[in-house]
Amino acid sequence: MATAGKVALITGASAGIGKASAVALLEAGWRVVFTGRRLELMEKAIAAAGVGPDRAIAVASDVGDPASVKALFAKTVAAFGRLDMLFNNAGQGAPAMPIEDLPFDKWKAVIDTNLTGVFLCTQEAFRLMKAQAPRGGRIINNGSISAHVPRPQAVAYTASKHGVTGLTKTIALDGRPFDIVACQIDIGNAATEMTDRMTKGVLQPDGELMVEARMDVKHVASAIVYMANLPLDANVHTMTIMAPKMPFVGRG
Ligand SMILES: NC(=O)c1ccc[n+]([C@@H]2O[C@H](COP(=O)([O-])OP(=O)(O)OC[C@H]3O[C@@H](n4cnc5c(N)ncnc54)[C@H](OP(=O)(O)O)[C@@H]3O)[C@@H](O)[C@H]2O)c1
Repeated sequence: MATAGKVALITGASAGIGKASAVALLEAGWRVVFTGRRLELMEKAIAAAGVGPDRAIAVASDVGDPASVKALFAKTVAAFGRLDMLFNNAGQGAPAMPIEDLPFDKWKAVIDTNLTGVFLCTQEAFRLMKAQAPRGGRIINNGSISAHVPRPQAVAYTASKHGVTGLTKTIALDGRPFDIVACQIDIGNAATEMTDRMTKGVLQPDGELMVEARMDVKHVASAIVYMANLPLDANVHTMTIMAPKMPFVGRG
């Protein structure tokens, strides 16, 4: 297999999109570092995949904490010696509320994870990918439909995801001389813990609550495997993958 032995690091791999993608990459022959704050969930996922430490490890980390990210990359190198693909996937939202009511700590938690976390992991990945032989690698950032348009009362999440688009474009440009390739996946309504609330109704711009369509997370995982498996002279720069009946196209 062309990709056998390549090394991927997935942030937010304890649940949802990150876990599904990490397991799909393992099935495609990659060696995978699972990271997130909940170690037991990642260890369970690796045990369920039936692979040993030569194929997958779980590392507890908080992507918003520089020391934690440094330790994560040191453990990745110690285990597998290099990094071919980083999926910056860890993310969280804040409860919907008017801008003027959003507590600073809620704003900060979202920005620390969704934006600073992508920056910190990318910084470590650049250091590693520039220095390793063969040089280079791929960085996939998890944006969102919220990287394009906001939901009502979601200032922190929307701002963070618009910021992710800026990081993706910067990585694509600054990575060129070093064979570091950037991609962004913008997902709409994959069925995960984060979107479970959509089955009860999501706040719409007209003030109504609407139950929204979702799609199986496995389709996101197979998109990640496709993007990851491309050679470094080909790239999906951006992909929008969404439940086609969710409100986005058609201004609502
Ligand atoms: N589901 C969707 O429809 C959708 C749509 C657009 C974008 N996205 C994006 O996709 C990504 C994954 O979302 P999901 O739906 O899979 O959500 P999820 O099921 O809630 O999973 C979120 C993951 O992020 C991890 N995480 C959160 N804060 C972290 C931190 N500070 N440090 C390290 N890990 C952290 C969580 O792990 P721990 O709690 O163990 O740390 C968990 O593994 C997010 O970036 C989200 O914005 C999702």
